[in-house]
Amino acid sequence: LVLILLGPPGAGKGTQARILEDAFGLVQLSTGDLLRAAVAEGTPAGLAAKAVMEAGGLVSDEIVLAILKDRMAGPDVSAGVILDGFPRTAVQAAALDDLLAETGQRVDAAVSLDVDDEAMIARVAGRYSCALCGEGYHDSFKIPAVAGVCDKCGGTEFRRRPDDTAETARARLETYHSQTAPLIDHYDRLGVLARVDAMGSIADVRAALARVVGAVA
Ligand code: AP5
Ligand code: ZN
Repeated sequence: LVLILLGPPGAGKGTQARILEDAFGLVQLSTGDLLRAAVAEGTPAGLAAKAVMEAGGLVSDEIVLAILKDRMAGPDVSAGVILDGFPRTAVQAAALDDLLAETGQRVDAAVSLDVDDEAMIARVAGRYSCALCGEGYHDSFKIPAVAGVCDKCGGTEFRRRPDDTAETARARLETYHSQTAPLIDHYDRLGVLARVDAMGSIADVRAALARVVGAVA
């Protein structure tokens, strides 16, 4: 099963992908996470990506495709993947269709998480995560049950992404509208597009997504 989550920064792609992983036994594949790991490791791809990511632009298709293909070859992805933040350009979408065709697969569903731009700035600017397990939190929308302690792993250290300032979030939104939103039409033409209202609660969005995945799984 190949599921794509499309949506602007803060739409909840990562939040929902992690929920779907647990519920459907799928593997989340986030190009943003893979790029951040490359930046942290200081690989050549990471060195090239760092400044672009901090400015809210898109890393080159060449780098992203190399990282994605490498990850798609992993043994754990055979049950199915949730692509979170990929594809983001027409070139990436075409490359994905070709890559899947090599193994007789195709995109089963592409879900557009529809949201309001201004609300997205607030979501992104309040976000942080557990430094130990990566669980995501938000200053207003999702706080740990015990202050300062991760619900999932008990960790007490948290971090914020360098691109999660209101200013960079605006640049990322513009990048989304100009380069990624046109892919919604691409998947509509392929007959695999689903739209989910992602302004509701995390639980409501989760329920709507579960219906979409349940219909194609
Ligand atoms: P990436 O890491 O993909 O970031 P993004 O697309 O900007 O998405 P985010 O991670 O910011 O948001 P999300 O939709 O996952 O929301 P989340 O669930 O965290 O990419 C980062 C950068 O890497 C890009 O800018 C680019 O430079 C580069 N890059 C990555 N992929 C690339 C590619 N394919 N090609 C080229 N460059 C690439 O939720 C946000 C917050 O809101 C959280 O705090 C959460 O708790 C909260 N929240 C979630 N849902 C709800 C809800 N329903 N109600 C209230 N709060 C909610
Ligand atoms: Zn944790």
